[in-house]
Formats: sequence, C-alpha cells, structure tokens
Amino acid sequence: MANMAHKTTIKTLYKMKQEGEKIATLTAYDASFARIIDEQGVDVILVGDSLGMVIQGHDTTIPVTVDDMIYHTRTVARQCKKALLMVDLPFMSYTSPHQAVENAARLMQEGLAQMVKLEGGALQAETVRKLSHYGVPVCAHLGLQPQSVHKQGGYRVQGKDQKSALQMIEDAVVLQDVGADALLLECVPNLLAQEISSNLSIPTIGIGAGPHCDGQVLVLHDMLGITPSAPRFTKDFLQQNGNIAEAIKNFVTAVKEGTFPEDKHCFI
Ligand code: KIV
Repeated sequence: MANMAHKTTIKTLYKMKQEGEKIATLTAYDASFARIIDEQGVDVILVGDSLGMVIQGHDTTIPVTVDDMIYHTRTVARQCKKALLMVDLPFMSYTSPHQAVENAARLMQEGLAQMVKLEGGALQAETVRKLSHYGVPVCAHLGLQPQSVHKQGGYRVQGKDQKSALQMIEDAVVLQDVGADALLLECVPNLLAQEISSNLSIPTIGIGAGPHCDGQVLVLHDMLGITPSAPRFTKDFLQQNGNIAEAIKNFVTAVKEGTFPEDKHCFI
C-alpha cells in the first residue's frame, strides 16, 4: 500500500505544468507491470478502459464494466507507490451526476484510485462539478473518445475543421471552470492541442496530440510492441531496449526531454 507522503498528487501535476516539466503517463492493468512502471519514474498510472481491448480482447472499450475497472485498479494500487493512480469511468457508468458520484466512490473506495477520468465535453459539466464538489479529482477526456466510437464513426482524428476545433477549445475551458483537474487530449492536431494547453491552467496529457501537451500517455501494450497494428501515434520502446524496465525508463526520458512524440507520431 502506498504511503501518501510519497505520492504524486494533482498538486504535483499543477506544479509540473507551471515549471514546464512534462508528465509521463502509462496505462497498467495489473500489479506486476504497475511495480515496474512505478519504479521507472512514471508520474501517472492510468488504469484505462483500454483493458477491454488489450486484456479482454474486445474490439472496443464498450463492454468494460465498473466491476472490471475496480478489479484491475485494486491490483495496480498494490504496487503503485509513487505515481498518481487514475482510473477510467467506463461506458454508461456516468450518465447522470448521481450515477457518476456513486461509481467514482466505488473506484476510489474499492479500487483505491486517486482520480477518475471521463469522456465528453461541456455536456459533462454538471457531472464534473458534482464529482469535484464531493472531493473527487477528475481528468476530462476530449478529442477521440473511444467510448463513443460508434457515434464518432470510427477511431478518427478530431478537431480538424474550424467548427469542431473551436468547440473543443470551448469545452476544455468549461470543464476546467467546473472543476476538472486535468484534461486528456486524444488524436487532436498539434496546433489545436497547443492552443488548448496554453489556454488552460490545468495540465493536458496527450496521446496522438503532439508535443505541446503538458504530458504524454501511451497504452502499455502499444509501447511494448504487443499490440498488432498499433496506431501511428504510438512508439515501440521495447524494440530498441533490451527489457521492459529499460523500455519504460526510456519512455519517461523521451517524454521529459521532449524527444517523444516525433513528427511522425503527430497529426497536423
Ligand atoms: O483507456 C485508455 O487507455 C485511455 C487512453 C487514451 C490512454 O484512455
């Protein structure tokens, strides 16, 4: 179990943004990987609902349940000594503020998470406000929203035209104003992610969102080269490094030094 005195918190993340230190984030779904990731200095561990795809073998994140998330978060929490532990609220587990509060409480009390992440723009404002009111740190998630894959018509870059870009900028500000503590940006053009990141006082963490976000996140199985046909915005860090711990250490260094993502991982 983690000692809170040594834990990364949202305050640490704010400070990192202010001081220009990049936030290195990776997903984990079990205790063994959580231990290695934590030991290699990753700042945030995300128990992502991507587990539906990389652990359970589904095509989407949609079948993942709150119970699945609690099970995996609890196993990760046992070895997450320093990193901030963030967890996804899965599909349809936050359709009202009340339902979101109940499920976030379970993820924190049973799963021992420190922060929850939810997808959606300004329509989630009341939910984020309520969670924040009850002391739940929230990471909002804009851009490609995998839980809406069928509504968004596939896994596509978002915010490419002016209207949707302006909408995303507006959504980000609304979410910050109602209490979001961080914002994840997925598959967003570089310049838009840069604009959003510089507009906000809360940190942004990007995946396929260019080098100007305040941090970077990758799905563990993608960066270890396990995922067949991994998305273009990811990088196989295991290929150049002999073992998993080295690969993760090099991911952290590349994020901190700004050598990842490169142009080939970005969308213009
Ligand atoms: O579920 C997940 O792994 C995510 C990714 C965007 C990192 O949310």
